Amino acid sequence: MKQFVILSLLLVGYNARTTKQERRFPDDFVFGAATASYQIEGGWNADDKSESIWDHMTHNKPTVIKDQSNGDIAADTYNNYKRDVEMMRELGLDAYRFSLSWSRILPNGLANKVSEAGVAFYNNYIDEMIKYGITPMVTLYHWDLPQKLQELGGFVNPLFPEWYEDYARVVYEQFGDRVKHWITFNEPREICYEGYDTTTKAPQLNATGIGAYLCAKNLVMAHARAYYAYKNDFAPSQGGVCGITISVAWFEPKTDSEEDQFAAEIKRQGEWGLYAEPIFSKDGGFPKELSEIVAQKSIEQGYPRSRMPEFTDEEKAFVKGAADFFGVNHYTTVLISATENLNEHVVPSLSDDVGTGNYVPDDWPKSASSWLYQAPNSIHNALTHLKNKYNNPVIYITENGWSTSPDAGLVDDDRIRYYRAALESVLDALDAGVNLRGYMAWSLMDNFEWMEGYTERFGLYQVDFEDPARTRTPRKSAFVYKQIVKTRVIDHEYEPSSMTMTIDEGH
Ligand SMILES: *[C@@H]1O[C@H](CO)[C@@H](O)[C@H](O)[C@H]1NC(C)=O
Repeated sequence: MKQFVILSLLLVGYNARTTKQERRFPDDFVFGAATASYQIEGGWNADDKSESIWDHMTHNKPTVIKDQSNGDIAADTYNNYKRDVEMMRELGLDAYRFSLSWSRILPNGLANKVSEAGVAFYNNYIDEMIKYGITPMVTLYHWDLPQKLQELGGFVNPLFPEWYEDYARVVYEQFGDRVKHWITFNEPREICYEGYDTTTKAPQLNATGIGAYLCAKNLVMAHARAYYAYKNDFAPSQGGVCGITISVAWFEPKTDSEEDQFAAEIKRQGEWGLYAEPIFSKDGGFPKELSEIVAQKSIEQGYPRSRMPEFTDEEKAFVKGAADFFGVNHYTTVLISATENLNEHVVPSLSDDVGTGNYVPDDWPKSASSWLYQAPNSIHNALTHLKNKYNNPVIYITENGWSTSPDAGLVDDDRIRYYRAALESVLDALDAGVNLRGYMAWSLMDNFEWMEGYTERFGLYQVDFEDPARTRTPRKSAFVYKQIVKTRVIDHEYEPSSMTMTIDEGH
């Protein structure tokens, strides 16, 4: 085994020295695609499923969604799951990352009642993947909290970590015989900052300067409880791994000045350090410099103590190291300035606490999403930073992708350009020694893009949302991704010979 590992390392090293065209992904590198329950499933009230915070918000305040749409039916995976798995087989994927709807499994939110129908749906979906050798990678929480728990305060209720552990145990118990890759939370920043500090995601709490920090602490505590529940009580017999997925955009100082370098570091701490530091850093707890800024500002603003809660030493020790891997969702880079483009912020707020300016060069290609640009070497820069900062953790890229407009059609050359550049950057990260094990494209198919509704499309497969059958059709990028997965090489000249998809032998 050891000799094999050394030989593999030599081969990777050798490949790194050949031309860019010929660089290969390791044979055991995991290629997949990703989705999330609320964005694709539909079946919002099927059987005994209860409302999630996204059902609740889109039904009660439809105008907050750009096209006033919702995920009631979405891509109707609830009725199309076999077609989804067929698409995975067409692409030749090694793995598929999807999420579970908490309110489908536990209609009360609490674990006193497990839905048979909800469990059966996920059993069918998982079994269909297993049948064709596709590794399920399961996210326990991708933003769709049971509304009943939100009414009790959601993530900021002190009992939240307990409720979450109870839910996690039900999930491990039901699916852990077949699922060996668990992701506790998807994108804490979007949950806590967008959902609790602002109004840009459900539940739109807008508890500025307070909500994100309370949520962040409870979220990482809940993560650690679910991690140890798995590690102690399930992993010994089930033999899987458990991690967390954090959105890690790359924040680069706009200039080499010390001010801009410090600003970029504070921005990183506010965007993802809040969630990564307690789990992956040597010392544990919230990021030091940001904590000091918030403590200082809180006193100046008349609060009796810092708006950012602390971890006790015991809590720090509990959370620190509680992950088998670091899941990274990565899309783009932003240049950070200490002095330019400083917007007005509500006081207090996390944005005001961070207080830096964003800058995006004019020549970076722009997607259909306001925040998503194709930046040079973005993945390499983000992942080598994590490698150095957190002692070379095992990393999976759990999302990466590009959006087009709904009328852009099937020939998506800009998405292809983005994926090829991103995957070159993945190879650069591997060459730099990043302990990167896999890559999940976002997304397998078009879906409900949160506040943007159906106005932005991320799919390798187009979904016809006008068609009751929600027909899925491969885009050109699907053929290009398939070729990369199959050959383990990025061929920049490759053009699909037709737009007809087939399933290769062995899939
Ligand atoms: C959020 O709260 C702030 C005050 O903290 C207020 O100024 C702002 O208008 C609120 N935003 C929305 C969209 O309600």
